[in-house]
Amino acid sequence: MAPHLADVWFTASDLQVVSGVGCVVTTAAGTEYLDFTSGIAVTSTGHCHPAVVAAIQEQAARFVHAQVNCYRHDLLEPLAARLAGITPDPIDTFFFTNSGAEATEAAVKLARQATGKPHVVVFEGSFHGRTAQTMAMTTSKSVYRQGYAPLPAGVFVAPFPDALRWGTDEARAVDLALDAFDRLLHTQTHPSEVAAVVIEPVLGEGGYLPAPAEFLQGLEARCRAGEMLFVVDEVQSGFGRTGTMFSTEQSGIRPDVLVMAKGIASGFPLAAIGAPAELMARWPKGAHGGTYGGNPIGCAAALATIAVLTAPGFLEHARARGDQLRDGLSKLQASNPAIAAVRGPGLMVGVVLQDAATVPGIIERCRVDGRLLLMSAGTDGDVIRWMPPLVVSDEEVDRALAAFAAALPSP
Ligand SMILES: Cc1ncc(COP(=O)(O)O)c(C=O)c1O
Repeated sequence: MAPHLADVWFTASDLQVVSGVGCVVTTAAGTEYLDFTSGIAVTSTGHCHPAVVAAIQEQAARFVHAQVNCYRHDLLEPLAARLAGITPDPIDTFFFTNSGAEATEAAVKLARQATGKPHVVVFEGSFHGRTAQTMAMTTSKSVYRQGYAPLPAGVFVAPFPDALRWGTDEARAVDLALDAFDRLLHTQTHPSEVAAVVIEPVLGEGGYLPAPAEFLQGLEARCRAGEMLFVVDEVQSGFGRTGTMFSTEQSGIRPDVLVMAKGIASGFPLAAIGAPAELMARWPKGAHGGTYGGNPIGCAAALATIAVLTAPGFLEHARARGDQLRDGLSKLQASNPAIAAVRGPGLMVGVVLQDAATVPGIIERCRVDGRLLLMSAGTDGDVIRWMPPLVVSDEEVDRALAAFAAALPSP
């Protein structure tokens, strides 16, 4: 890291970038890279989408900060109404914050107030953030928690179905994980103590591992039976990343609370939780808040982002590029035993390598030789994740596949 900058950030590269357009970022030295990180699945409309830039510029000239405790600015309600139109039913009421961790923590605060119950159940391999509460809910890698004890109590961790790791098929993994969930409620914390069950429908940091629909549906049924709130963390998987606006649409589940961030505003720091009005009404006035939540520039960026994402053909394009990417990667898997699996919906694609030790070298060769930026994921660091802007072209996908093929260890 550079002088005067804290060295605590993990850095995937030492590139210094000065601008970004679409899927391309340009360094201070003038070199262009294909950015298949999207700044960790954030710039879904591409870097500096003209409509988003224009909305930010216009809003910056009107109001930079209009704090919600003091007055409601004129984009807050339009954004909430727009979100009500694109989030799964019956979610229609929203609270805004700045980051995914704050939003996830807000969901837990709402769940505790609304139910009067103390505990939360989360799943192995999850990443929910770096605040104290969300660290306690994060088990994707111990480095995120190490050295921060004592973490808040009341968090219980159930297995996430992982057929590949468990050496079984998906249906059996779902049975095993639901059985373990039931045992947790039987032996560790009773549903009468559990405010919320919080899950990422596709594990993000945990390795781009989708939860099978039957698992999510089984959890939802258990939440209803035990009067536990079903909280779905779509911070990474939301806003078109999985090929539909939210990944919940693909499993037909109805979350009580939906957690959103990252793709919501194309990179402007904004996050939100959504819940049905009657649930949100159980959050006592003043029980939560924040200085910057619902920032007007963030709201302008979010409204512009949603307009881009909902334009005719946009998500069809993202789905087609996801299919193209998965097809290309599956072909590579067929010819190269270094690849153990290709998985994930839409443009949230994970490539599992047989040997985690090869991952840093592959990513470096992609960057240095292929001018392609990728990141790793997975509890063992054995996954390379592909999360390009959703505006990626077929030519860019082909170029990225060629760079990746050249960077793989030879079969
Ligand atoms: C699923 C999920 N939840 C929560 C977070 C935390 O979001 P933030 O880094 O904005 O606090 C992340 C970040 O990667 C995430 O992927």
